[in-house]
Amino acid sequence: MLEDELPGPTDWGATIGVGPWEGPWPDDPRYDPQLLAEGDRRNVVDRYRYWAVEAIVADLDRRRHPFHVAIENFGHDLNIGTVVRTANAFLAAEVHVVGRRRWNRRGAMVTDRYQHLRHHADVGGLLAFAGEQGLAVVAVDNGPGAAPLETAELPERCVLLFGQEGPGLTEEARAGAALTVSIAQFGSTRSINAGVAAGIAMHAWVRRHADLGAAR
Ligand SMILES: C[S@@+](CC[C@H](N)C(=O)[O-])C[C@H]1O[C@@H](n2cnc3c(N)ncnc32)[C@H](O)[C@@H]1O
Repeated sequence: MLEDELPGPTDWGATIGVGPWEGPWPDDPRYDPQLLAEGDRRNVVDRYRYWAVEAIVADLDRRRHPFHVAIENFGHDLNIGTVVRTANAFLAAEVHVVGRRRWNRRGAMVTDRYQHLRHHADVGGLLAFAGEQGLAVVAVDNGPGAAPLETAELPERCVLLFGQEGPGLTEEARAGAALTVSIAQFGSTRSINAGVAAGIAMHAWVRRHADLGAAR
């Protein structure tokens, strides 16, 4: 299919999800009356169909993993939406944006509604948070001295910290990390996209620590 033939967001929306609830309405308070009446075309897994956003978040909160994700945003990094969406898929505890508060939400595909987000003005704020919470800060970057992610022992309670396109992680972030890990590459490019790197690192955590029987 050519790119200009791809359906727009509205067209996709009409093809996923479910229509209005048929039959007597359920009295479970997790259901949202408007979704029951109009149908639920959101990008959510089937078990959450017709659930109110707050009910979904509460259910996710009972099961969240103890890893956090942080990304530096001193420029305007366009990968943050992707990072948020992937963090939601892998059920990260929180996503931390370090630097500028504003970020482009488009890539998040509305998953930011279900994901706890926290802003820190600078790296010091993130490191203080991690210290208070007993979280090991794991810098993910391709600079010298990094241990291979493929063989590193990722701590269960950790913050996976990513840099932005161009400069990569700041010196302050690298210095404050307990561990720096790099993703093995074999081609000519210096680095991969930060959103892709975040997905790989989160999945490395999942492979090591998650209960795969609980995946859906
Ligand atoms: C595009 S890279 C930054 C540029 C990079 N420091 C360089 O040498 O050009 C943006 C971010 O993606 C992540 N990243 C990209 N490739 C990576 C790799 N091979 N290993 C670990 N992290 C990587 C890191 O978090 C990095 O800070």
